[in-house]
Amino acid sequence: SRALAFALAAPKAELHLHIEGSLEPELAFALAQRNGIALPYADIDALRAAYDFSDLQSFLDLYYACADVLRSEEDFRDLMLAYLARAAADGVVHTEIFFDPQTHLARGIAFATMFEGLAAGAAQAKAQFGISTKLILCFLRHLSEEDAFATLEAALPFIARIDGFGLDSSEKGHPPAKFERVFARCRDLGKPVVAHAGEEGPPAYIVEALDLLKVSRIDHGVRASEDAALMARLAAEGMPLTVCPLSNVRLCVFATMKDHTLPALLAAGLKVTINSDDPAYFGGYLGENIRAVQAAFEFDVDTWYTLLRNSLEASFASDAEKAGWI
Ligand code: HPA
Ligand code: ZN
Repeated sequence: SRALAFALAAPKAELHLHIEGSLEPELAFALAQRNGIALPYADIDALRAAYDFSDLQSFLDLYYACADVLRSEEDFRDLMLAYLARAAADGVVHTEIFFDPQTHLARGIAFATMFEGLAAGAAQAKAQFGISTKLILCFLRHLSEEDAFATLEAALPFIARIDGFGLDSSEKGHPPAKFERVFARCRDLGKPVVAHAGEEGPPAYIVEALDLLKVSRIDHGVRASEDAALMARLAAEGMPLTVCPLSNVRLCVFATMKDHTLPALLAAGLKVTINSDDPAYFGGYLGENIRAVQAAFEFDVDTWYTLLRNSLEASFASDAEKAGWI
């Protein structure tokens, strides 16, 4: 349809992408071989067959296990470059990418190894495809406040090249309040902050992310629809939501795409964006998310224009950069 063709071709930003979640099975096995390590799966098909998730935690267990193949600077560079090539092919002109240092520091990988590899991949993609990248350091919320502070300490030598901070991993039982002091320190460093909230957790976690962490965007936020006052507040504040449709269906937040709250969020006037979250694990990149949303909801060109313009506006790019896109 005309609306789908428009959505696939139009310039857009991706604002919710975990670089470790872009590790395709093919690359996982290639890196395992390069590093002389064994994955606990016989082959690519056996690994792909394990992508049958019942909730967020069942995914996270596999996501952290597969990240073990990432060892050298080249591994992180190759991962970044592979994602950015795919994103550019989907019309993504700018992306703000989450990385999880604690996953790697805990395995004895130096912060510099991981970070310089990711930065090298981003620089190469900028030169090759013209795509621009920002890097958002995510704290793992199932770990302690103390561990988050230690991670921030390890990141300080690189702080000029870190564009923001986020919060991810197991949501239930780990409310934003747990990281209020860490996020205050991140904001004191002059960085914007974001947090996953209202994916599996209750709307109250979205309120905490706003009031206690003072976030600039809510990642997911799809359970906001359960709280009318919160919906009104998010709309009034123009607070961006980075919604990840295929992720939500694959992690059983919604039974099918038609059950997704996306149309309700849009109808309430929220500043919604569409993103792929962990595309290697959830059935596709941004283009596939757009196709799946369109198959379920048949949005018109105006709705897609709004969604894609939102993604550019909600980015942390400068006003000059935005003016070049919008
Ligand atoms: N939610 C929480 N943590 C994550 C996710 C997610 O969707 N993806 C990678 N880490
Ligand atoms: Zn996410």
